[in-house]
Amino acid sequence: MIKIAVLVSGGGTNLQALIDAQKSGAFPQGEITLVLASNTKAYALERAKNAGIETAVISRKSFEDPAQYDQAIVKTLRDHQIDLVVLAGFLSILGKPVIDAYPERILNIHPSLIPSFCGAGFYGLRVHQAALDYGVKVTGATVHLVNEIPDGGRILLQKAVEIQPGDTPELLQRRVMEEAEWKILPQAVAMLCRQLGAMQDER
Ligand code: GRF
Repeated sequence: MIKIAVLVSGGGTNLQALIDAQKSGAFPQGEITLVLASNTKAYALERAKNAGIETAVISRKSFEDPAQYDQAIVKTLRDHQIDLVVLAGFLSILGKPVIDAYPERILNIHPSLIPSFCGAGFYGLRVHQAALDYGVKVTGATVHLVNEIPDGGRILLQKAVEIQPGDTPELLQRRVMEEAEWKILPQAVAMLCRQLGAMQDER
C-alpha cells in the first residue's frame, strides 16, 4: 500500500475530493493515512476526522528556526511511513530537507495554468484576481511535482476552465475548483500510486 499524507491549511475541499475518490476506488494502491495541517483552525481537520483519518498539526510559528520546522515535518511523515505527500491548499513553503526526503513524491495543486499566475505571492484569490486583471479568457488548474522553485516542478496534469463575463475572483475560484481541481488532483494521485505501486512490486 502507498501511504499518502495530505497537507492542508484551509477549508480542505481538495482533501474532500481525495477522500471521496479513495472511497470510490480511484486509487486502490493508495490510502490516505495522515492529514497534516499548518494550523489548528483548518476546517480540513474536521473533514479528516469525519473520514476517520489520523491528523497532526505542525505550525511554522512554533519554531524559531525554519530548519527545525522542516525536520519536524520530515519526522512526522517518516513516523507515519508516508510514501507520497499531497499539498492540497497548504500555505507554508516546504524547505529543502522535506523536498530531499521525498524526491518526485510531493504533489501540489495550483489554481491556474502554470506558467501563468504562479510563483511567490500567487495563492488563494490573488491567483484568480490576477487572471481577471490580465483579461485572459481561459484559466484552469495544474498538478505538479514540488521542487525548490515555488510552482516550478514538473507538470503532471492540467485542465482548462473558461472565464465568463461578470466573473469575480470568488466565482472563478469556485468554477476552477469544481471543473478542474477536484478532478485532476485525484487523477494525479491515482497516476502516482500506480507508478509507486509498480516500483514496490518490483522490489
Ligand atoms: C485551492 O484553490 C488550491 O488550488 C490552492 O489552495 C486552495 C485550497 O482549497 N492551492 P481547499 O482548502 O482545498 O478547499
